Amino acid sequence: MSIRQEFDTWATDGRDKGMEDRHWHTAKHALARMPVEPGDTILDLGTGSGYAVRALRETKCAGRTYGLDGSPEMARNARDYTDSLDSGYVVGDFDDLPFADNSVDHVWTMEAFYYAKDPHNTLREVARVLKPGGTFYCAVNYYEENVHSHHWQDNITVEMTRWTREQYRDAFHEAGLSVAAQDHIGDFDVEIPDEDAFPYEGFDTREDMVERYRELGTLLTVGVAH
Ligand SMILES: C[S@@+](CC[C@H](N)C(=O)[O-])C[C@H]1O[C@@H](n2cnc3c(N)ncnc32)[C@H](O)[C@@H]1O
Repeated sequence: MSIRQEFDTWATDGRDKGMEDRHWHTAKHALARMPVEPGDTILDLGTGSGYAVRALRETKCAGRTYGLDGSPEMARNARDYTDSLDSGYVVGDFDDLPFADNSVDHVWTMEAFYYAKDPHNTLREVARVLKPGGTFYCAVNYYEENVHSHHWQDNITVEMTRWTREQYRDAFHEAGLSVAAQDHIGDFDVEIPDEDAFPYEGFDTREDMVERYRELGTLLTVGVAH
């Protein structure tokens, strides 16, 4: 199944809002760290419901914001949830960003980068569209050290890339992005039941669930363009 087919179904099922609710637990902390100044142009790759760019407009007075998604239904929903004329939602692919060289101040992506058909090319595209000094905030919960995420590939037909922390850093460098930071953001909002409730939602032990959410959480890699 293509990205479009897979995620159009998710959007029409209402799963865009479900993702927003879950991802917000850690996304809000990563978004708060972005050095966005009033008026900056922001691009969100795999925008889903579009919540991240709306938050950057509300909290940091971002200027033009663009949410790009390969699913027309996701882009349509995101547009419906937004009332600002300065927010554009675009259907497109990570491998061919419809933006000019050196035109974007900051790029954000949450739980989407690993769906890129050619993640190395996506990073080159990000480096191309960013202005010198612009940042790329790349947040993922599916990565090699997060063993609790490995089975996710079984639930989706789109091929996913599972890199280690080091592979992220190496790939950023190869694409011409310096790595300014790499960090785990724990999810302290998700409720973790008492020991006697396990097995619970696929976790055999409470320790596994604590490791998944509190310790491993979201891997954030921050690149800076030259
Ligand atoms: C798991 S959702 C995450 C959505 C949102 N960022 C969030 O945090 O809830 C991944 C999104 O990325 C989009 N996507 C995946 N691969 C893509 C690609 N190669 N080009 C454009 N969009 C893509 C999907 O259509 C989907 O809306």
